[in-house]
Amino acid sequence: MTTPTDAQRMEKIVSLCKRRGFIFQSSEIYGGLNGLWDYGPLGVELKRNLKNYWWRVMVHERDDVVGMDGSILMNRAVWKASGHEDTFSDPMVDCRVCKARLRADQMIEKKGVRQCPNCGSKDLTESRPFNLMFKTYVGATEDESSITYLRPETAQSIFVQFKNVLEVSRKKLPFGIAQIGKAFRNEINPRNFTFRSREFEQMELEYFCRAEEGMRLLEYWKEQRLKFYENIGIPRDTLHVKTVSDEERAFYSTGTYDIEYDFPFGRQELEGVAYRTDYDLSQHQKTSGKSLEYFDEETKQRFIPHVVEPSAGVDRTVLALICEAYSEDEAPDEKGKMETRLVLRFHPRIAPIKCAVFPLLKNKEQLVAKGKEIVDLLRPHMNVFYDESGAIGRRYRRQDEIGTPFGVTIDFETLGEKDASLRDTVTLRDRDSMKQERVAIQDLAAILRARIA
Ligand code: GAP
Repeated sequence: MTTPTDAQRMEKIVSLCKRRGFIFQSSEIYGGLNGLWDYGPLGVELKRNLKNYWWRVMVHERDDVVGMDGSILMNRAVWKASGHEDTFSDPMVDCRVCKARLRADQMIEKKGVRQCPNCGSKDLTESRPFNLMFKTYVGATEDESSITYLRPETAQSIFVQFKNVLEVSRKKLPFGIAQIGKAFRNEINPRNFTFRSREFEQMELEYFCRAEEGMRLLEYWKEQRLKFYENIGIPRDTLHVKTVSDEERAFYSTGTYDIEYDFPFGRQELEGVAYRTDYDLSQHQKTSGKSLEYFDEETKQRFIPHVVEPSAGVDRTVLALICEAYSEDEAPDEKGKMETRLVLRFHPRIAPIKCAVFPLLKNKEQLVAKGKEIVDLLRPHMNVFYDESGAIGRRYRRQDEIGTPFGVTIDFETLGEKDASLRDTVTLRDRDSMKQERVAIQDLAAILRARIA
C-alpha cells in the first residue's frame, strides 16, 4: 500500500522531471497521449549513459557476447511462430455502465461478486483476451496480407537472426547476442509515470547455451544483473529477487527471476531473467523450415541451443535511478541560513552532466576566460556545463538539483592574485558532501575521469 509520503515523493519526482527537462508528456500541447513520454535534454543524457554502460558491461567487456540492431517491423510470421499473435494478451473486462475497459485482475471482488473499480457496477462483461501488440499495415494496401505488428520485445529479431550472427561472429557456445531498442505494447492501463508505458526501450541479452548449462547460467546472469544495478547506484538492499512461480511463468520456461525495485509506488519489476529453453529457436525452425541448429565441432552433434535471457527495461531503470537519487537535505544559503536542498544523488557514471564550470564573477574577464579554457579542456572527456550567471550558491543548487556530481570554481586564487603557488588551481566541489578541494587545472581531467569511469 502506498503511504502518503511515498505518493508525495512520487509527485515531487514527476514535477522535478518536467521542471528540469528529464521527462515530458508526449504531445503535451495537444493534451498528451496516455502511456507515452518524451525525454528532454537531461533525460536523454541519463538514458544514453545507462544504455552505454549496459552495452559496455554486457558486450564490450566480454568475449562471449556480440551485438545487433534489428528492425522494429518484421514479417508477421515471426509473431505467429513466437506465439505472440495468439497469446500475447491480457484478460480484459468491460463495464456496461461506465464503459471503462479494465484488466480482469483490477476488478474488486466483494463477497465473491466482481465489481467495477470505477463506478462499483456489477454489470460487467466476461473477461476476454486483449492482444497487446500494435497492429499496422506494410505497403499501400490495407488488407490481411499486409498486416504486421510493432515489436512487443526486441528478443525475436535476435532469435530469427541467430544463424546469421553465429556464422559471422564464429562464436562457440555459450555465447550471447545483445540488443537495445524500442518495444511497443498497447497496455490497457498505463500507469505510475513511465513505469508502464506503451512505447519503451529494452536492453536484452539472449545467451545461448547447451541444455545442461541452462539452470547454472540462469543463476549466473541473475547475479551479474544484480551487480549491474549496484554499479549504477541502485543499492542491493533496494532490489529484490522474486522467483516466478510455476503458474506465473511462461509455459516453456523452466526458471524465471524478476528483479524488483522498491519504487515509491511499491515493489515492482525492473528486469526479468528467464531460462527460455530451446522454445524460441525451435518454433522459428519449425515455422520457417530453416535450420537454426548449432554444430558442435568437438562432439560432431547438431542441436538447437537453449537460451537464458536477462531482459531489462531502459525506462523503468531510468525511473528507478531518478527515484533512488532523489533526496532533500539541508545546506546554508548565501547568508549562512540553513535551507532545504534538493539533490539528485546520481552515481557519477550515469549523471547527465558530469561537471559544471563556474567563474566566480561573470564581469571579470580573466575568470571567464579561464572558465572557458577549462570547459574546452574537459569537453572531449565528458559532458560539461558552463554557468556564469547568478550567485555561486544558486549555481551550485541548480546543479545539485539535476545531479551534477562535480563543480569547478575559478576564483581569484586561480589567477594567482593572492598566492602565486595557487595560480592555475581551482576548487573542485563534491555534490554530496559539498566539500571543496583545491586541484591543479592540469590534473583536473584525470581526476574527474577516474571518478566518472
Ligand atoms: N523478452 C522478454 C520480455 O520482453 P518482459 O518481462 O515482458 O520480458 C522485459 O519485459 C522488461 O521490459 C521488463 O522487466 C520491463 O523492465 C520492461 N517492460 C515491459 N513492459 C513494459 C512497459 N509497458 N513499460 C515499460 N517497460 C516495460
